Amino acid sequence: MRVEGKAFTTIWAEADGASIKIIDQTRLPHHFEIVSIADAPAAARAIADMQVRGAPLIGVTAAYGVALAMRSDPSTANLEAACALLKATRPTAVNLQWALESMRCRLSALPPAERAAAGFAHASSIAQEDIALCEAIGDHGLCLIEAAAAKRKDGGPINILTHCNAGWLATVDWGTATAPIYKAHEAGMALHIWVDETRPRNQGASLTAWELKQHGVPHTIIVDNAGGHLMQHGKVDLVIVGTDRTTASGDVCNKIGTYLKALAAKDNGVPFFVAAPSPSIDFAIGDGVAEAPIETRSPEEVTHIAGCGEDGRIEVVRLTPAGSAAHNPAFDVTPARLVTGLITERGVIEANRSALAKAFPERVARPGESRMI
Ligand code: MRU
Repeated sequence: MRVEGKAFTTIWAEADGASIKIIDQTRLPHHFEIVSIADAPAAARAIADMQVRGAPLIGVTAAYGVALAMRSDPSTANLEAACALLKATRPTAVNLQWALESMRCRLSALPPAERAAAGFAHASSIAQEDIALCEAIGDHGLCLIEAAAAKRKDGGPINILTHCNAGWLATVDWGTATAPIYKAHEAGMALHIWVDETRPRNQGASLTAWELKQHGVPHTIIVDNAGGHLMQHGKVDLVIVGTDRTTASGDVCNKIGTYLKALAAKDNGVPFFVAAPSPSIDFAIGDGVAEAPIETRSPEEVTHIAGCGEDGRIEVVRLTPAGSAAHNPAFDVTPARLVTGLITERGVIEANRSALAKAFPERVARPGESRMI
């Protein structure tokens, strides 16, 4: 996608294979900075500190982290150690496990001398696949937006609400929830996006708003609690969100607050869609509420907030009384019954066990696949 009119992906390998480059998302929307990553610990830190974030991009970064590890020491012990280090960074997005397992399977079958080159090639193929999956989601999701437009009598813009950032910054390119939006925008459709700020880290206000602005997509930032009110007043035609882990029965684990949006959408008859590329589907678990691992992040993300002063410096200030406790679960689970449909790379399907099994029969045939390392 574009930054100041120039095409970028969120991650790429340098030609000499000595490092990878990422866009530092902790500096956005105030500063656009490219950062170099030269080894697996640096890749792990970038994921844990959320310089890169979003389920697909976490997976791709981890894959490149393994490739970098193989450059310095291609032994099997180091392959295992790098996978374990990277897996421990963030627990919820299943893409991380999926990408690491894919790297481990591919590289452990090779002699150590071949692992570095093969590692970069395989990480790059995972990145390319992510782009293709997101673009396919865009094409399928575009049909949903067109259908919503056909239903509107007044010819006004289609209002889509999204939560967190499931945009191109969360993937390699296109995004998942945003891919249909970018496709519709490119097709000349009139759109308007309600962007949830997404406390506590404000991925919506900082990242989704930034990337939509870069692409000229009309949007308005709202506080997280405004969505239900807007739905009651007919101001939301469609909700599209991302997913960090969709279970075999269609429950969706995504950024904290997604569940409340799904409840409000159900109560108001607003279609609630989840853009779900297959690497984010975990066929090894069924009941998301009981089984999906939910990351708890630092209370400081709740008690403090970052912003940019007039001098361009990013500063962190306290919001809450010193000494008041804060709790910071980073994800929640939206039960399948609240999900109108999953937008996958193979089409829009119902969020239930049989539809998922029918769409991805080869995945169901490999139970336990996400239990690795
Ligand atoms: O904590 P984050 O910013 O990594 O959370 C991101 C989300 O919840 C996204 O909706 C999800 O990863 C899908 S990204 C295409």
